[in-house]
Amino acid sequence: MESSKIDKVEIVDVGSLPELGVVPEYMHAQVIRQDRFGEPKDAYKPEKIKVPEIADDEVLIAVKAAGVNYNCVWASTGYPVDVIKLREIRGEANGDFHIAGSDASGIVWKIGKDVKNVSVGDEIVVLPAHIDPNEPYLAAGGDDMLSTTLRAWGFETNWGSFAQFCKAKHFQCVPKPKHLSWAESSVYMLSGATAYRMLLHHHPHTVKKGDVVLIWGGSGGLGVMGIQLVKRAGGIPVAVVSSDERAEFCKKLGALTINRSNYSHWGALKTAVQDDPAYLEWRKGVKAFNKELLTITGGKAPFIVLEHPGEMTFPTSLFVCDPGGMVITCAGTTGYMASFDLRFLWIFKKRVQGSHGASVEEHTLFNDLVRNKEIEPIVSEVFPYDKIGDSVQKMYDNKHLPGSMAVLVGAKDENEGRS
Ligand SMILES: NC(=O)c1ccc[n+]([C@@H]2O[C@H](COP(=O)([O-])OP(=O)(O)OC[C@H]3O[C@@H](n4cnc5c(N)ncnc54)[C@H](OP(=O)(O)O)[C@@H]3O)[C@@H](O)[C@H]2O)c1
Repeated sequence: MESSKIDKVEIVDVGSLPELGVVPEYMHAQVIRQDRFGEPKDAYKPEKIKVPEIADDEVLIAVKAAGVNYNCVWASTGYPVDVIKLREIRGEANGDFHIAGSDASGIVWKIGKDVKNVSVGDEIVVLPAHIDPNEPYLAAGGDDMLSTTLRAWGFETNWGSFAQFCKAKHFQCVPKPKHLSWAESSVYMLSGATAYRMLLHHHPHTVKKGDVVLIWGGSGGLGVMGIQLVKRAGGIPVAVVSSDERAEFCKKLGALTINRSNYSHWGALKTAVQDDPAYLEWRKGVKAFNKELLTITGGKAPFIVLEHPGEMTFPTSLFVCDPGGMVITCAGTTGYMASFDLRFLWIFKKRVQGSHGASVEEHTLFNDLVRNKEIEPIVSEVFPYDKIGDSVQKMYDNKHLPGSMAVLVGAKDENEGRS
C-alpha cells in the first residue's frame, strides 16, 4: 500500500483493522448522548466518530473485545451522574458525547512520545484506574484510590472501549494473558481488581485461611471474582443468589450458597424500636437468614461481608457479620439509603468500610493472577458489536447469565486471541 493511501484511511468496517499502526480518521463507536439517557437499549447508538488524538503519555488501542460492567449501565442512564456534564463541571470536557466501556482487550496502535512501557503491536488489557501519577500526593507515594486525580476510565473519562479505538494512559496497559481469548481477556479486570482490593487491602480485615466471606450476587461480575479470590486464600465463600440456576453455578466455583428469594425482609430499616411490628418482622427475617447461613458454615459467621446491593441488603449484612468483622461496600445498586441498627456495630465492634476500584499496582497484581491461571475469567455470553445496548440492558434488568458478558469489537469470534 502506498503511504499516501495509508495516511488517508477514512474508516474500516467493524471486525477489521488497517495495517498495524495506521490510524483511520474515523471509527465506529456506540455512543451515549444526553438526549437519550435512559434504558441502555435506547441510550447506545452507533455513530461515526473522529478517532481521538493522544497526549504524550497516552496510548491509542485497537479494541478487540470490550467487557460489560455496571459502569456501562450508570453511564447510559445518566443517573446518579451525568458523566458528560460532570466532565464539563470539572473542566475536563472531551466531546459532547460519551463512549463508555471500562474493560478492554486490544492491540496498542499508537503511542505518545513519552510512552516507554508498551510498543505498537503489543497485546494488552486495559486497567481502569485513570490517575495523574505526577500529582504531588501520588508522586510522594500516596494511594491511587485517594488521589483527587482518580477517574474511572470509560465512565468519568471519555473514549472507553465501546468503539474501534479507545485511549488510555500508558500505565493502564498491562499484558494480555496469552492463554485467553480476546473476549475472555476483556471481562475480568474491573470487577476482579475491585474484589481483590475489597478482600486484601483493608488490614487487618483481609481474607485468610478458614475465614467465611459472604458474597452478595455470587454469580455476578464481582461475585465470580470474589468467590475465586476467597477460595485462593483458603477461605469459605458463601454466595447469595436469587435462583437455583445461579446457586448451581456458584457451587461449581466452590461456594456455599443461599437463595435470597426465600426471604422477604429486604430494604432499609424503618425503625429500630424493638417492639415495633416492622422491627419484629425484619428481625424474624434476618434471624432466619442468619440461621441458614450459620447452618451451612457449621456455625461460623462471616469475617467479611462483600456488599454492593446497598439499601436492600445492608441491614442484613451488618447483622450477620461476625463480631470484629467487616462489612465492605463498593456500591449501592438497589439504593443509597443504607441503614442499619447501630447497636450491632458498636456492641460487636464491627467495621463498615468503603472501597472503590483498585490501585494500578493492585490491578497489575490481579492481572498476574489471571496470567498465572490462578483466577479464571468467566464469560457468560458474547455479543456482537451492534448488540452492545442489548447486553448492557440485560445487566440493568438483572437478566444476565452467570459470569460476565463480553462484546466483540475487532475480534471475529469468541475464541480469537488464544495462543
Ligand atoms: N466502586 C467500584 O469500584 C465498583 C467496581 C465494580 C462494581 N461496582 C458496583 O457493584 C455493583 C455490582 O456490580 P457487578 O459487576 O457485580 O454486577 P452484576 O454482574 O450485575 O452482579 C450484581 C448481582 O447483584 C445481585 N442483586 C441484584 N439485585 C439484588 C438485590 N435486590 N439484593 C441482593 N442482590 C441483588 C444479582 O444477583 P442475584 O439476583 O442472583 O442475587 C446480581 O448478579 C454495581 O453497582 C457496580 O457499579 C463498583
